[in-house]
Amino acid sequence: MSLVPEPTSIILLPHLSSELSVHYLLFALMAVSVLLTIVSAALLRRVKRLKHRLFKRKQQVENVNGRLFEAIARHEISQELVSEAQDYLHSILNSMPSMLIGITDEGAITHWNNQAEQSTGVCSSSALGKDIHQTYPELPLSPARLREIIANGDSKSFESIQHGKGSLAAYQDIVIYPLQGEHQVNGAVIRIDDVTVRVNLENMMMQHEKMKSLGELAAGLAHELNNPLGAILQNLQTVERRLQTGLTANQQCADQVGISLGDLNHYMANRDIPLLLNHIREAGNRASQIISNMLEFSRSNELQSQSENFIDLVDATLAMASLTIKQDGELAFSDIVIHRHYPKQAIYVNCSASGIQQVLLNLFSNCSQAFADDENLPNKTPTISLTIEQRQQQMVMTVTDNGPGIEAAAIRHIFDPFFTTKSVGRGTGLGLSVSYFIITQRHNGHFHVQSEPGKGCSFEIILPL
Ligand SMILES: Nc1ncnc2c1ncn2[C@@H]1O[C@H](COP(=O)(O)OP(=O)(O)OP(=O)(O)O)[C@@H](O)[C@H]1O
Ligand SMILES: [Mg+2]
Repeated sequence: MSLVPEPTSIILLPHLSSELSVHYLLFALMAVSVLLTIVSAALLRRVKRLKHRLFKRKQQVENVNGRLFEAIARHEISQELVSEAQDYLHSILNSMPSMLIGITDEGAITHWNNQAEQSTGVCSSSALGKDIHQTYPELPLSPARLREIIANGDSKSFESIQHGKGSLAAYQDIVIYPLQGEHQVNGAVIRIDDVTVRVNLENMMMQHEKMKSLGELAAGLAHELNNPLGAILQNLQTVERRLQTGLTANQQCADQVGISLGDLNHYMANRDIPLLLNHIREAGNRASQIISNMLEFSRSNELQSQSENFIDLVDATLAMASLTIKQDGELAFSDIVIHRHYPKQAIYVNCSASGIQQVLLNLFSNCSQAFADDENLPNKTPTISLTIEQRQQQMVMTVTDNGPGIEAAAIRHIFDPFFTTKSVGRGTGLGLSVSYFIITQRHNGHFHVQSEPGKGCSFEIILPL
């Protein structure tokens, strides 16, 4: 609403008398001034109200600003805390001796710690974001199985997973921990530990225990069998002597019963009796050889130790092997090429010469038989390499052949008594178990085998000096 008077009333003024028009004008002026006063008062109030609102707004803005600054400060602090926590978490993950790999439920790598870098040779920057199966193909789980474990939510462990074959085998314990968080995070942490040393130690201890109990059993059996076998062989000798012509006692007895010793021998020759007796003696001798091997396990059969020049001992055994190891198939021991890697100076070892010879003869005989069975023999020169060296206070000898080697499944049992892959009559499976016993128990040494199937095998004898 406008407060200014209508212009029509002023235009009418010249038509009124002058006194009346002055009064009228004064009245109008007064009305105008009153109006102006009212308007200015109203304007002042309005300005005051506006100022008040402006002040309030300013205060509100200042409050909001303050809160904003506080929020920014809090955000900066929490960001700092988050990055500190991340650093802490990373250093924990990186200082762990296990391989720790974080993956999404699709198998994409999210974490790859230092140990994972070291074990695989793949650096974290190349691994992150890649597929776990492509980056670490050794993981013995299919993508589907991994997804199933993550979806299931329960951790899953796999113990002593073997990688590689034979003595090059390595073992790992693997645990998959599916992620469990308040915020639906899907994925898993995979922990992988190298347990090769532990598994090898367990195998060695098992071997030791097995040897102990089987050895005791074998020694007990050998003692029990020794007496009847002795009687068989002795009585066989007596039978042969009593059938001989030319012995007075035999002649007297034949005369008494009225038969001719010559006719008797003739009859026996026609019926192959001397041949059969010979077979009995051979079988008896073989059994006695087995028994004397088994008796090695018994502590009562102690070996005499003295200081021996080990190099001379090995060379003497090689000469003996050429004479005693029978030709196997096409191959004689002398057909095998021997490479000797000996130190310049003699190495004296306190040992039992006959015990060490027995061990070496068995190793040479095994090599010879392995070459004879080797399908690849026509394509190679059968070779045995002998290395003797002194390492600190130990004498270390290796006997390495380039024969067919030993399968991983067999290598675990190779020192077990009676373990053999040879046909009946060709091997009893006692050679290496007795050798192991002689080296480890009688000489406080170590006896190891290493083999890569198809490439040959290597036996290591370590004796204290
Ligand atoms: N140099 C080798 N190359 C390949 N295999 C071997 C070698 N040495 C041993 N073996 C394997 O180890 C097994 C056990 O050997 P070990 O000497 O104990 O018994 P054996 O030779 O079978 O019988 P024995 O020695 O009692 O006559 C053998 O049957 C063979 O399978
Ligand atoms: Mg043998």
